[in-house]
Amino acid sequence: MENKVKLNGLTFVPYLTAEQISAEVKRVADEIRRDLKDTCKPIFLCVLKGAFVFAADLIREVGREDSKVSFVRYASYEGTSSTGTVKQLVGLTEDLGGRDVVIIEDIVDTGLTALRMIEDLKAQNPASVRFATLLYKPESSKTGFVPDYVAFSIPSKFILGYGLDLDGQGRGLKDIYVIEDEA
Ligand code: IMP
Ligand code: MG
Repeated sequence: MENKVKLNGLTFVPYLTAEQISAEVKRVADEIRRDLKDTCKPIFLCVLKGAFVFAADLIREVGREDSKVSFVRYASYEGTSSTGTVKQLVGLTEDLGGRDVVIIEDIVDTGLTALRMIEDLKAQNPASVRFATLLYKPESSKTGFVPDYVAFSIPSKFILGYGLDLDGQGRGLKDIYVIEDEA
């Protein structure tokens, strides 16, 4: 595993290896496959940009040939903290009516993005909505929102890599890094 990563004057240290991530992605995929067993029209909704790496791995592990994939984009973060307002940047192009939707997110922090998204989707009358996230910060939740599927529950620290960014950088790192504690 690479050592420290420095970006924008901040230092990040190794936190989760690609091997650890892969094992948990497989576990979550097994759970989703089991829960979607009796559904005929699953659609995965990847939340851009951060979830694109997780979504690519997860969808291939679930391996449902009858599933569709679509994308939405929301933003609430500037630098390393939440602004508290959630903006929709790219909307849905797919009709979700009657479909079993699995939202795929990189991280649930305050839960504001998740709730806003679920509210937007329910207006389209899907058969069901499930929520999968790579990372979940339970201590940051301002909303009490709890995802259906969680690869890792983590402390409320800023995370980088495997799709997650700092002002657009770091998404291509294979491992996950955490911001170094200030001494
Ligand atoms: P929420 O609305 O506060 O739950 O924030 C969710 C969004 O904030 C995520 O989809 C990420 O884009 C971003 N975010 C939250 N925590 C982190 C982090 O530790 N690293 C990178 N992005 C984060
Ligand atoms: Mg995001």
